[in-house]
Amino acid sequence: MRAEEVQSDITRVLVTEEQIQAKLDEIAAQVTADYDGKELLLVGVLKGAVMVMADFARALPTHMTMDWMAVSSYGTGTRSSGVVQIRKDLDTDLHGKHVLIVEDIIDSGLTLSWLLTNFASRGAASVEVFALFRKPDAAKVEVDCRYIGFDIPNEFVVGYGLDYAEKYRNLRDVAILAPHVYS
Ligand code: XMP
Ligand code: MG
Repeated sequence: MRAEEVQSDITRVLVTEEQIQAKLDEIAAQVTADYDGKELLLVGVLKGAVMVMADFARALPTHMTMDWMAVSSYGTGTRSSGVVQIRKDLDTDLHGKHVLIVEDIIDSGLTLSWLLTNFASRGAASVEVFALFRKPDAAKVEVDCRYIGFDIPNEFVVGYGLDYAEKYRNLRDVAILAPHVYS
């Protein structure tokens, strides 16, 4: 795969690397204030949230711990179905922990809504969500999300951890995927 081929798969850049880093600093400052004196556990949802987690955790000046969950929501190509399966569960006991779920993107909201229900029975002191991106026009269920990076149009986006068929995660910016790639 050559670099020019990657560029021709992209319609346009939606959010740049610089805008993402500035937003992460802003949200890290809010989280630092909101969780003052509390034991914060960041839970990243694999694999999309890897980049957000890496940069967001380093934007926090406080102690925190990190854990990961892998879920797959079965669906076709660019749409999730809401049928969620745990592929890798947490290693951490949530009792007494203040959990902040770190997500790449909320599309229909089905995955996150399932995760929140799943977490509700695990004894955490609190469970909140930080999603770097949200597509308000794609929402099928309302998800209570405390921290949002960017509201974006209802287009399939890739980059900064977001993939199509496992590719494009390494792009530094977040960009709209050209329809010729998936149609
Ligand atoms: P739902 O619909 O359950 O979807 O909120 C959440 C998960 O679906 C993936 N997703 C995307 N991945 N570009 C991607 O690369 C997108 O535009 C997109 N929309 C949804 C993603 O894994 C997310 O966690
Ligand atoms: Mg995801």
